[in-house]
Amino acid sequence: MGIKLDASNETKFRLAATSIVTGLFNPSATETMRTQAISSAVYLKDLLLTEIAQRKCKPTPDLLTEFIQAIDSRADCDAMDVVKLVLVLIFSASDTTVYSTLYAIKDLFEHPQQLQLLKSDRSLMQNALKELLRFHTSGSFFPKYATQDTEYLGQKINRGDAVFISIASANKDESMFPNAEILDITRDTNNTLSFGHGVNYCLGTQLALTVMSSIMNKLLNYLPAEAHLITKEIKFETGSRRAIISLPINTYL
Ligand code: HEM
Repeated sequence: MGIKLDASNETKFRLAATSIVTGLFNPSATETMRTQAISSAVYLKDLLLTEIAQRKCKPTPDLLTEFIQAIDSRADCDAMDVVKLVLVLIFSASDTTVYSTLYAIKDLFEHPQQLQLLKSDRSLMQNALKELLRFHTSGSFFPKYATQDTEYLGQKINRGDAVFISIASANKDESMFPNAEILDITRDTNNTLSFGHGVNYCLGTQLALTVMSSIMNKLLNYLPAEAHLITKEIKFETGSRRAIISLPINTYL
């Protein structure tokens, strides 16, 4: 976006983005998490409005300025539309990719045969990442709203009702993925749902896979054969999401 942050503000910015993901888009969030998420949203909105006002006086060569210029030419849009656009990108892009990459590294190192296979045949990388995303899927619940009255497995769903879809559960459906609990980087990953489906299919799929494969390739090139996870020192976020916050790897025997 071109937003310049010093070290302490960057930490605050990242924590605010994560707090919104865990507090607002999470049906099991506590009241405290929701309150925290709302103040984080206000903090990000104010920060972005300041950045937008500065660029309106003095445009800078960055994505945020391009958004402002695109929206300026439309009578029905204002600065708050730029804020919403940036917030959608921050929440959907950064936290998901960080979360998924850390789990992909952990799961791969916990399956040494699969790790060896990928090390020796990098052409498997895209499929391996899709399989790792299937094996551990982020963002368990996505709210969808029924556009008409319907019934599913005997359960009546009225028009307008919110239905929480579990992509993680669908990705473990045995009828689609035989031996779903087994990580197999050579399996057919065409029907995995980690990036959603239909009209809301993830806009950043290719970017996410490119970023993840770049990180994974560098890691596999860099780490010696004897590198292994220090399992008992892996740290997880508290709460249902269990995002990884520390993933120590030992590089000697
Ligand atoms: C591994 C990383 C990622 C995962 C697992 C992921 C997953 C998803 C999923 C499941 C959806 C569908 C949500 C729904 O149906 O309600 C979605 C939508 C979306 N994603 Fe991603 N995403 C990732 C990375 C990214 C990146 C890097 C970007 C942007 C640069 C991005 C931008 C979006 C946007 C804008 C949408 C909404 C699309 C729409 O509703 O039209 N995502 N993502």
